[in-house]
This record gives sequence, C-alpha cells and structure tokens, in this order.
Amino acid sequence: MTDILLETQGLKKYFNSPAGEVKAVDGVDLIIRQGQSFGLVGESGCGKSTLIRTILRLLEPTEGKVFFKGRDINSYRKNELLKLRKEMAMVFQDPHLSLNPRMTVFDTISRPLKIHGLARKKQELLVQIVELLHTMGMQAEHMVRFPHELSGGQKQRIGVARALAVEPDIIFLDEPTSALDVSVQTKILKLLEKARQERNLTFFFISHDINMIRVVADVMGVMYLGKIVEIGPKELLLSDPLHPYTQGLFQAVPEPDPDKIIQEVQLEGEVPSPINPPPGCNFNPRCPFVWDLCKEVEPMLKELEDERRVACHKY
Ligand SMILES: Nc1ncnc2c1ncn2[C@@H]1O[C@H](COP(=O)(O)OP(=O)(O)O)[C@@H](O)[C@H]1O
Ligand SMILES: [Mg+2]
Repeated sequence: MTDILLETQGLKKYFNSPAGEVKAVDGVDLIIRQGQSFGLVGESGCGKSTLIRTILRLLEPTEGKVFFKGRDINSYRKNELLKLRKEMAMVFQDPHLSLNPRMTVFDTISRPLKIHGLARKKQELLVQIVELLHTMGMQAEHMVRFPHELSGGQKQRIGVARALAVEPDIIFLDEPTSALDVSVQTKILKLLEKARQERNLTFFFISHDINMIRVVADVMGVMYLGKIVEIGPKELLLSDPLHPYTQGLFQAVPEPDPDKIIQEVQLEGEVPSPINPPPGCNFNPRCPFVWDLCKEVEPMLKELEDERRVACHKY
C-alpha cells in the first residue's frame, strides 16, 4: 500500500450566520494516499468546497487536524505556509473568475514560478511555460493572449497549467469542468489524467456530478451535510453502494452503467439545513430504512472489508 499523503482527523468548520451556526464541515476523517485520484461527491451545499478550503488552510478549522506528509499543518510557521502553497495546488471552479483579466497567459503562469523560485530568467520562464502549455494541449502562441481572447475550455486549461507549474504533490480540483460543455470537459479530464500519471501527482476532485467523479476517481467518497457517509474503491461503491444515501445518489445518475446493480431506493425530500441538522444520523429524515436508533445515535464511519468505510447503523 502506498504512503499516506494527507489525513484529516475530526475536521470541522462552522460559520456564524444571522440564522445560527452553519455546520458546513462536521467531523471529517479522511486518508488520501500518494498517487491516488480521490473523488468526493455530494449535493450542492453539503460542504465540499468548505472542506478543501479548510484543508488548504484558506479557512481556519473550527476543530480537528490536517496532517500533510505526517505533519500537522497548523504547526507551520508563516514562511513554511508558502512552501505548503507550492505542495498543495488548487484549480478553481470558474475559470472566468479565477484568471486575472489584465494578465496574459505568460504573466499568469510566470507568477507562481517566480514566487516559488522555480524560474527567474525570462528564458527559463519561456521554456517552462511552453512545456506546461503543451501538457495542456495548447501552443506557445497562446502565451500572449489575455483571458477574453480564450474560450472557456482554454481558460480552464490555463488554470490547470498554473496549478501544475509549482510542481505540487497534490492538486485540489473544485468542480473543475462544471462551467464547460461535456465535450470540452472530457478533453480536459483526459489531459489531467495524463498529467497525473506523468508527474506522479495526487488529485482531490470534488463535484456534485457523480458522472464526472466516476470518470476521474479511483477512490470515491460520498458527503452528506458536512460528513463523509461512505468511502472506498470506486468499483465497489458503484457496483455495491452500502449507505442508503449513496444508493439513492447513484440511482439518480441519468445513464447508469447497465452492469451495475442498483437497489430500489428513492431519495425523498430536500437536504436539511446545516444550521440545525437532525439529531442522530443526519440522513434519517430521508432514509427509507430509518429506525429508532437512527434518530438518537450518530453512526460512526465503520471500516468494513476491502478498505470500505460506511456510516450507517445497518452495518
Ligand atoms: N463564508 C460562509 N459563511 C456562512 N456560510 C457559509 C460560508 N461558506 C459556505 N457556507 C455554507 O456552508 C454550507 C456548505 O457550503 P459549501 O462548502 O460551499 O458546499 P458545496 O461546495 O458542497 O456546495 C452551505 O450551507 C453554505 O451556505
Ligand atoms: Mg462548492
């Protein structure tokens, strides 16, 4: 088994709001191994973006710990945080917002290279930027373009090239293709996978789109109302989902794999508010298998065989 790259322990992020405390991330224990492509899926608002922003220390955790290469990232000093920014990169959801409209492609990708001292002279920058553009299926001539001269797909390729530029260990990708057409999406996901293999990278994808996650992930997690409810190898989760929420989610996929066994479960109702989550298992108001225990006791993420973990009193 490969080394653990990233681990969270009891990670929580609560926000204050006029309506009360928002429990956006509510006790997440995760292990990401070196070289994995991890995909976390869950409905909009379940806390995916908050989770990765807290892992990246763009947000301070309310409680819990993040270990990167075995070290608690809260113990990093200011000068070490810059190094962390090089080791953990991020691709943002909306390429139209994440690129500075006044910067050319050359300037956009040069910036992290200069900040982290990976290239200083113009010649070094040019060589590296051309190589990064080629990796993302673009040409040297794109260097002089401004964001408004690029298509949505090209902008996101630049977003990825910028993340790759710092030679990170792990890249977090927050709905990286949800703003793009399906054909453009597929191309970018293929280029990403190629780059991951060539550069021995670890990916952490988050998306509400199960069809996207099942293409990119080798290990899959399912999030519901601030908690991970199920996690394990992708093939196992797809062929035999255990948590009632996972079963409902996969049934909602428009074109399910014909080989896949899907149990008859209907997801009823709306996602409850993370301000006053239901007591016990927070999925209990929507669960077709609910019993008394589920309304009183919160199920822990239990380890089953084959590296699967599920948080449900049925198991
Ligand atoms: N800065 C914030 N202040 C208050 N509430 C927030 C803030 N950021 C996110 N939230 C709330 O936290 C919950 C999780 O949001 P988010 O992490 O964006 O979910 P996802 O990425 O899964 O759609 C939502 O209820 C959202 O409204
Ligand atoms: Mg989000």
